[in-house]
Amino acid sequence: MKKTWWKESVIYQIYPRSFKDSNGDGIGDIPGIIEKLDYLKNLGIDIIWLSPVYKSPNDDNGYDISDYQDIMDEFGTLKDFDELLKEAHSRGIKIVMDLVVNHSSDEHKWFVESKKSIDNKYRDYYIWRPAKDGKEPNNWGSCFSGSAWKYDETTNMYFLHLFSKKQPDLNWNNPELREEVYNMMTWWLDKGIDGFRMDVINFIGKDQAFPDGTVYPGALNGDFSTSCMNKPVSHEYLKEMNDKVLSKYDIVTVGEAPGAQIEDAKKYAGENTKELNMVFQFEHMDVGNGSEGKWNSLPFKLVELKKILAKWQTGLQDEAWNSLYWNNHDQPRVVSRFGNDKEYWNISAKMLATCLHMLQGTPFIYQGEELGMTNVSFESIDDYKDIEIINAYDELVNQRGFSHEFMMNGIYGRGRDNARTPIQWDDSENAGFTTGSPWIKVNPNYRTINAASQINDPNSIFNYYKLLLRLRKENEIMVYGKFDLLLADHEQIFAYTRTLEEKLLVVCNFSADAVDFKADQTINYSTHKLLLSNYEQMERQDITNFVLRPYETAVYVLN
Ligand code: NOJ
Repeated sequence: MKKTWWKESVIYQIYPRSFKDSNGDGIGDIPGIIEKLDYLKNLGIDIIWLSPVYKSPNDDNGYDISDYQDIMDEFGTLKDFDELLKEAHSRGIKIVMDLVVNHSSDEHKWFVESKKSIDNKYRDYYIWRPAKDGKEPNNWGSCFSGSAWKYDETTNMYFLHLFSKKQPDLNWNNPELREEVYNMMTWWLDKGIDGFRMDVINFIGKDQAFPDGTVYPGALNGDFSTSCMNKPVSHEYLKEMNDKVLSKYDIVTVGEAPGAQIEDAKKYAGENTKELNMVFQFEHMDVGNGSEGKWNSLPFKLVELKKILAKWQTGLQDEAWNSLYWNNHDQPRVVSRFGNDKEYWNISAKMLATCLHMLQGTPFIYQGEELGMTNVSFESIDDYKDIEIINAYDELVNQRGFSHEFMMNGIYGRGRDNARTPIQWDDSENAGFTTGSPWIKVNPNYRTINAASQINDPNSIFNYYKLLLRLRKENEIMVYGKFDLLLADHEQIFAYTRTLEEKLLVVCNFSADAVDFKADQTINYSTHKLLLSNYEQMERQDITNFVLRPYETAVYVLN
C-alpha cells in the first residue's frame, strides 16, 4: 500500500453548532472552536473535519447552503474562519471542509433565479420536471419523509429534493453547474484548506429517465436509491472533479456514500482510480435495522457487525482505503449503541475505541466520543430539533398510526440529536458550552461526564484516546498492517490480527460477561508484549487462550 500522510492521520469531526459557544447566543461558533484548539492538540488529532459553516437558513443545520463562499452569521465571519485556519495550521492541525453539493438551500441565489422562469440562466442548475398524470413526476420519497418533489407554481413544475423541501438537488448533468462547483472548491483550496468531506457525493449522478422506485411494504413513497445512488455517471463526475481540482493539491478527500458496496468503494477510493481518497460506507451503521429502518431496530448482533467490518477490511486490502468510524453527527453515541453506558461506561468506551482504531483505515473521532458522551432521552418530542426526527415522527405517528412510545424509543436509540447535544466541557451550568440558553438541551449527565474531569485523570476515556493516537504514531503496523479476523462466529468477542513485519493481536469483549478467548487459528509467536488494555495489566502466559473480563480489550504485539 502506498504510504501517505492522510492514511497515518486521525480526523476529528466538529459539529460547530454544538461544539463551543463564545458569545452567549446558545450556538457554537468559530471563535469557540479556536478556544478549544489546544484541547484538540493535546488529544493528538491531526485533522479537523468541520461540518458546514457556510451561510445557511439552517433547515438542516447547515447542510442547506445559501452561500458557499461565506460563513453562517451565528458562526462568525470569513475573518474568523481565516483566523481558525491560521491558528490550526500553527499547531500542525489541518482543516477539512464539508462540501455539500448534491443540493443547495432553496435560498441560494442560483435557486432563487432558477425558479423565476424556464429560460432563466440558472434554470438547469436544478432538476425541474412537469407533473405526470396530474401528480408528482415520479413516486420517489425524500430522505426526510414525504415526496421528493415540490410543486412550484411560478412555472407550473416540480423540483427534486432528495432531502428537505428547502434542499433542492443540484443538476450535475449540467456542465455549467459543475464548473461553478469546481471554481468554488478551488477558491477554498487556494485559501489553504486541506481537503473536503463530501456530503452524499454518491447521489450526484442520477438516472435521467427518473423512473418510479420500488414501494416497500408500509412505505408511502417509492425508493429512489437504484436511480440516484452509486450510478456510473457519478464516477465520471468525480474523475472530472479530480482532474480539474483535487489533483492540483496535496489534500485529503472523503466521500459520504450511503449504500456503497465494496465494488463501488474500490472505484471511489481506489489507489489508482483518481477519484477520492476514501468513502464513508454505511453497512455497519445499519446493523439491526428493522422494517422501519433505524426506527425499529433490534439489538445488534456482534457476528453481523464483525462480518461487515471484516468484509470491508479484506475487501479493500491493497486496492483502496477504508475510513473508520463509529460516530458522526447523524449517528447515535457508540457507547450507548454498541457498548454499555451504565455499569461499564468507562471500560466499554475504551474497548470500542480500541476495536475501531486498531483496524486498517483512517480513524474518525466525532466530538465528545473521546469523552464517552452518551445518547440522551428527552421527555418531549418538542425538545428535538432535527428535521429528520420531526418529519419521521409526523409520518410514522400521525400518518401511519404507530404509537408515540414506539417512535420515542426509536428516537432514543438511533435519532440524530443523540449526537448533537452540546459538548460537555465541565460541570457548570449548560456544561460550560454556553453562558446563554443552548439551542438544544444539554445531556443531563454532564455533571459526571465532562472534559474538565477527564483531562487530568490518567484513567479517563480522554486519556485513553490520547494514548491510542500516540500509539498509532509510534506503530506503523496500526496503520498499514494487514487485517485477519479470528473467531468469526463468536457472539461476544471481536478478535483479529494485524500483520506487517510483526503481528498485533487485538481482542475485544463486547459483553458484560467474562468470556473465554481461545484462538481458532494457530498464531505463531515466540514473544508477546501487552501494548494496550482497558483494565489493570494482567500477566498472561498463553495469550491465545485466556479469560476476558467484561468489555475487556487487550492488544498484544507478537514477535
Ligand atoms: C448527510 C449529512 O451527513 C446529513 O447530516 C444531512 O442531513 C444530509 N446528508 C443532507 O445534506
